[in-house]
Order: sequence, then structure tokens, then C-alpha cells
Amino acid sequence: MKILVTGGTGYIGSHTAVVLLQAGHEVVLLDNLCNSSPVVADRITEIAGRPVTLIEGDITDSDTLDQLFRQHSIDSVVHFAGFKAVGESTQYPLPYFGNNVAGTITLLTAMTKANVKKIVFSSSATVYGNTAPVPYVESFGRGQTNNTYGLTKSMIEQILEALSSSDPEWSIISLRYFNPVGAHESGRLGEDPAGIPNNLMPFIAQVAVGRRKQLSIFGGDYPTPDGTCRRDYIHVMDLAEGHLAALNILKPGIDAINLGTGRPLSVLEMVRAFEDVTGVKVPSQIVSRREGDLPEFWADAEKASRVMSWKAKRSLNDMMEDTWRWQLNNPDGYKITE
Ligand code: NAD
Ligand code: UD1
Repeated sequence: MKILVTGGTGYIGSHTAVVLLQAGHEVVLLDNLCNSSPVVADRITEIAGRPVTLIEGDITDSDTLDQLFRQHSIDSVVHFAGFKAVGESTQYPLPYFGNNVAGTITLLTAMTKANVKKIVFSSSATVYGNTAPVPYVESFGRGQTNNTYGLTKSMIEQILEALSSSDPEWSIISLRYFNPVGAHESGRLGEDPAGIPNNLMPFIAQVAVGRRKQLSIFGGDYPTPDGTCRRDYIHVMDLAEGHLAALNILKPGIDAINLGTGRPLSVLEMVRAFEDVTGVKVPSQIVSRREGDLPEFWADAEKASRVMSWKAKRSLNDMMEDTWRWQLNNPDGYKITE
């Protein structure tokens, strides 16, 4: 198959591109490079041992999309492109609706024109909302989210549902990611956040490598076993393989599937695991809670296993080792290493 990967030079898209190439698919990446580097395409090719095509362009630009679909006979789309910073989304809602929601509508319109009606969409556990019981099960449906980013993911899921009911030829899967961490085992691909990382794992890694002084642990008084928040951290390569599994079962209709491990881990457990695996101390301090954080959530991973024979198989040690290898080999991300 020839697969279009939007946001393909980003963190999750790049790892997924490697998995798709290694499974024998042809891959076209579309990315406007607003949060990634073109170097990533070379590294994908280097790891997979097969060329990938990178088109620098924007999903909100219908001319670019129409031309792309004319030039390449695309079978399916894996749609990662979008903005993802929760805090920023609440401060600047319009660019989030514009890029995530309007961008997806432009993409779906171009796909309709080109008669490409297969899509796997990057959704998030955040669509379960603020009050769902744990673990999150797909049958719960969506809840009320407290940030604009989450709202864009819920809106896109609803747009996809409306499209599916209007035209039963569409084959659609929304994958609801939990907390992706880690890097490709080669140490050549990984997460390269711009500025101060919002997320836990890149922050830990940057403290360990000396780029930041200490980790602030947001809240030590949550109703959890050790008082810090618990999440379902999943290795990015397991997540990437989840996309291949989803493409393999795509059929007319629409579905939503969790991609998580089913096991919650606390912030303190993550810090300890990193220190144990790397032997590097991560200075940390418990500070006040971060607004909007939920005490704990994790996936019920049964559906992914049942419907697409996929399970996360990498260990917590793998997550830590691979994060550390990536960070050590690329202390400044993709910027000055090439
Ligand atoms: P990322 O920022 O690394 O990747 C997104 C890519 O999309 C970037 O390369 C960026 O340059 C590109 N992009 C953004 N807007 C674009 C546009 N208009 N046109 C073309 N390219 C554009 O993020 P990621 O962590 O790889 O996340 C990928 C997807 O998964 C996003 O939709 C995100 O919301 C979703 N997701 C991520 C997480 C996570 O923790 N990383 C969790 C749940 C869901
Ligand atoms: C956040 C988003 C979620 C998004 C995900 C991945 C919220 C409410 N949710 O999830 O929608 O899909 O990022 O992009 O923002 N932590 C610290 N110190 C830090 C950083 C994080 O203690 O410097 C803690 C957080 O309080 C949290 C845990 O680590 O308990 C994980 O945080 P993070 O990696 O930001 O992910 P989430 O908040 O789960």
C-alpha cells in the first residue's frame, strides 16, 4: 500500500513511518515542519533501509493536498498533523481549532475528491473527559474535556462519525493514545520538543543530560498510592506498531481504539525507573499541582488486543533505555547533530 502520513516528521509520525516502511509499504510524509526537522526524513530512510518521500506542505492548504493526491496514488492516510500543547491551546484556542479541526476538514475534503476513503486518526485519552472512571474503556463514549486541545480531538472524532454515517464507504479508526514515551532503539529518532518540555519524560531526560536543573513534580497529595499522578506510559514503537495493526484491520465503518499498556505508573515510579536503568540521578522537588491534571488514568487495553491482535510489548526498562540513548546521542535534539 501507499500511505500518506501527515505530521510524518513529528515524534509519533516518524516512528510510525519506520514501522510502515519495514512492513513493506510505500510512505509519503506531509509536514509543514512547524514542530519538526527535515533531517527526520533522512533518519527514517536510514533506519528503514528504504526511501521515504517528504513533501513540505500544510494540511490546511487544499491546493497542496489536491496536487499530492494527483501525484501519488495514496491508498490510506494516517493523520498525525496538528498542534498538541494543552496549556497553549487554552491560551490560543483559534489556532488550535484552525489547525486541528479546520485542517482535518481540509484533508478529508481533499481525500473525498481523490476518492481516498481510509484514515487512521491520532486521537487521545483526553476525549474521555474529566470524570470518567478508570481504566478508560472505549464503550464509555466521550466526556467533557477542560482544555481546547482535548476539545479539538473530540470534535474531530465527531466529524469523522458524521462523515462515516453520510458515506458508508469510509473506513475510519480513531486511535486514542495514552502517554507515549521512549524513542527508536537505534537512538536516531526520538522526541525533540521545542523550548521547555511540557511532558514528563523529555523533562526527566533533559535534567539527566544537564540541560535543566531539576524536575518539578506537580503535586504530591493526589489520592494515589504515592501521592503523585499516575498515567499509562506506552513505548512510542509499540504505539507506532498499533498504527500498522489498525491499517491491517481497516474496513468500511468507524471505530475508536485505545493504545495503552493497561498499567498505571506514578511520576515517582517513572523517575525511579529512569535512575535505576541509567544510573543517573534526577534531582526533583514536589511542587504544587498543575492546573487541569487528573489524578490518574490508564487504558483498558482489551479491545486493541481483541480486534487488532495488538498489545504493547516493550518494558518500562526499554522506555527508559531508549529515551536515554536518544538523549545522549542527540543532546540538542535534531538541531546541531547534522
Ligand atoms: P509532533 O508535534 O511531534 O508531530 C506533529 C507534526 O505535525 C509535526 O511534525 C508538525 O510539524 C506537523 N504539523 C502540525 N501542523 C501541521 C499542518 N498544518 N500541516 C502539516 N504538518 C503539520 O506531535 P506528536 O507527539 O508526534 O503527535 C502526533 C499526533 O498525535 C498529534 O495529532 C497529537 O495531538 C496526537 N497525540 C499525541 C500525544 C503525545 O503525547 N505526543 C498524545 C495523544 C495524541
Ligand atoms: C498531557 C495532556 C494530554 C496529552 C498528553 C501528551 C493534560 C491535562 N493532558 O497529558 O491531553 O495527550 O499530555 O501530550 O495536560 N509532570 C510533572 N512534571 C513535569 C511534567 C509532568 O510532574 O515537568 C507530571 C504531570 O503532572 C502528570 C505526569 O507527569 O502527572 C505526566 O504529564 P505529561 O507528560 O504532561 O502528560 P499528561 O499530563 O498525562
